[in-house]
Amino acid sequence: MSTNKNKIIVIYKSKYGSTKRYAQWIAEEVGADIFPLNQIKLRDLEKYDTIVYGGAVYAVGMLGISALRNSFSKLAGKKVVVFSVGASPAYPEAMASIQANNFSDAMKENVHFFHLRGGFDYTKLNWLDRTLMMLLKLKIQRKSEDLRTGDEKGMLAACQTPADWTKKEAIKPIVECIVGDKAPQ
Ligand SMILES: Cc1cc2nc3c(=O)[nH]c(=O)nc-3n(C[C@H](O)[C@H](O)[C@H](O)COP(=O)(O)O)c2cc1C
Repeated sequence: MSTNKNKIIVIYKSKYGSTKRYAQWIAEEVGADIFPLNQIKLRDLEKYDTIVYGGAVYAVGMLGISALRNSFSKLAGKKVVVFSVGASPAYPEAMASIQANNFSDAMKENVHFFHLRGGFDYTKLNWLDRTLMMLLKLKIQRKSEDLRTGDEKGMLAACQTPADWTKKEAIKPIVECIVGDKAPQ
């Protein structure tokens, strides 16, 4: 699907590639320009009507989201769509916590927000992420099994076996939002 009705840009920040893959799928589907966050300046956004931002989630923080938060007031009148990418599935509590930790009040009201499931391969992590994961693993392992959340159990399992949850059909609601005219919910 491609739309020429308005000018769309997809911007992303990814460490290990899942967010970048989703950004590429979305840009391809809607016929958007696509850039990593570090190649974009605020003034570059003037010519776009729709701005899509994808950021990977690390310790509940979305990569690069401060750039959007800081310039959000300058984007009035544009449609802003944000998607986070994490190991967690897109259930309401996980999404609410990502929003609470990363969005300003104005963003909570005006951004169309989605969450997509990425991937996790412990063997490919850099030393810092590996150390953080080891600490997280130890913390979870100290809890008795019946007190571990679904996410915590999932994280322990993913440390044993690499997982790739990315799938192209997951972008469908985002594509519909970009080409549609629904207000943020
Ligand atoms: C140190 C570390 C912390 C993470 N924290 C979270 C988290 O808080 N929530 C989550 O859903 N996923 C978390 N993840 C998983 C990543 O979000 C997931 O691997 C995602 O696909 C990474 O996207 P990227 O490949 O674009 O960098 C974490 C991964 C690492 C290595």
